[in-house]
Amino acid sequence: MNILIMGMGYVGVTTALLLAELGWYVTGLDPNESKIRMLSHGTLPFYEPGLDELLRKHLATRRITFTSESDTAVYDNEIIFLCVGTPSGNDGSADLQFIKEAAESIGMRMQGYKLIVIKSTVPVGTNEQVVQWITQAQTSAIPFDVISNPEFLREGSALQDALEPDRIIIGSENDQATVLIQTLYKKLSSPVVVTKPKTAELIKYAANAFLATKISYMNELARLCTKMGVNIADVAVGVGMDHRIGPHFLRAGIGYGGSCFPKDIHALRFAAREHDVDLTILEKVVQVNKTQAVYFMDIWEQLLGSFTGKTIAVLGISFKPDTDDIREAPAIGIITKLLENSAVVKVHDPIAKLPIHMLSEQLQQFESVEETMQDCDAVILCSEWKQYIAMDWGQLRSRLRQPYLFDGRNMLDGAKLTSQGYHYSGIGMSMG
Ligand code: UDX
Repeated sequence: MNILIMGMGYVGVTTALLLAELGWYVTGLDPNESKIRMLSHGTLPFYEPGLDELLRKHLATRRITFTSESDTAVYDNEIIFLCVGTPSGNDGSADLQFIKEAAESIGMRMQGYKLIVIKSTVPVGTNEQVVQWITQAQTSAIPFDVISNPEFLREGSALQDALEPDRIIIGSENDQATVLIQTLYKKLSSPVVVTKPKTAELIKYAANAFLATKISYMNELARLCTKMGVNIADVAVGVGMDHRIGPHFLRAGIGYGGSCFPKDIHALRFAAREHDVDLTILEKVVQVNKTQAVYFMDIWEQLLGSFTGKTIAVLGISFKPDTDDIREAPAIGIITKLLENSAVVKVHDPIAKLPIHMLSEQLQQFESVEETMQDCDAVILCSEWKQYIAMDWGQLRSRLRQPYLFDGRNMLDGAKLTSQGYHYSGIGMSMG
């Protein structure tokens, strides 16, 4: 079976490489020719640990090829994965323009049976919509099936998540199509849930929104912990040992970011409003997330005296470690607030780069942590890159003008840093 993946973004490339690793012959299709050239030469268009090796491996095995030519790509492949983007529209709804274009492109070009698999995160009801778009674009009635098979990949650990998913969700109305997609994944040992397409579509949104809810709950509780002199990380350990709750996604910090949680929660709330349902819990989840970094910056500012006129080092600008993605990253909000307060901001990240238009005399990015921290009044840690945890903080202290260390991810050993002379403060912990 030959497989076509439409859309060579993060999900598309990971899915293509997973299927090649599972032994299938895969073609990656994208209209962006420079992206196709990069991929064909073994270069990923984004940073993701482990994926570049897999790309080079399967370029060599010839199980993966890339093209911008839709005609032959659709003709040659019986199974087609839709992995195109579904960005947020101005009103928070998911913009399905790329899904529609892909569906119409398949409908116009298909000359034999196709199984279309929707991997992109799409609103409930999109599966039916794709069936309509393909049918309308067809010049003669050729059979096809559309299956919903959402992905649950996390940036930074996409390869592991793809090879060992917690579950495989298949939303299908047709038994033969279900068997066909199960055949593709037969080498994976994960449980398979076969359900209706609409249910599959909602599972993806419900899972992301629930994970964000866990984070915002712990983040809000962290505010109370600060007042009570209780350590939120200790609370998380005790709470997470209850198997009904589980230990994951209880880490308090400066908030969640990235391309999925914010976008998917907006889309789910939009869909709910269309059905005259208010998802009030999610409204609060968003509100806590929007105010979390500012809440703790106010506390840190009191400790420091003021941000105005101070030089502040910001370490880690990606929305989480092991990615170069700064979309909705809490660090960007923190930097903006520091600039508004007339602070000079010095930034470092192991991989991610600030866009050039943001840089100025007041805001600069440096290659080394040493340069970044030189003559600063405080350090704010925004994403928990391993190298920041492993650094010799004792040595680095001498670089600072004032040894204030604000840990937005509770990733460092506060007691040790205090003994090394730092004024250490994190999220949801005793103030002294
Ligand atoms: C998420 C989902 O986890 C994944 O299943 C889906 O397919 C895409 O969206 P991703 O956005 O890559 O993945 O990152 P994730 O690891 O979920 O983290 C999201 C944000 O939450 C990050 O900013 C992270 O720092 C934050 N986070 C995570 C916390 O603040 N606390 C936690 O305990 C966990």
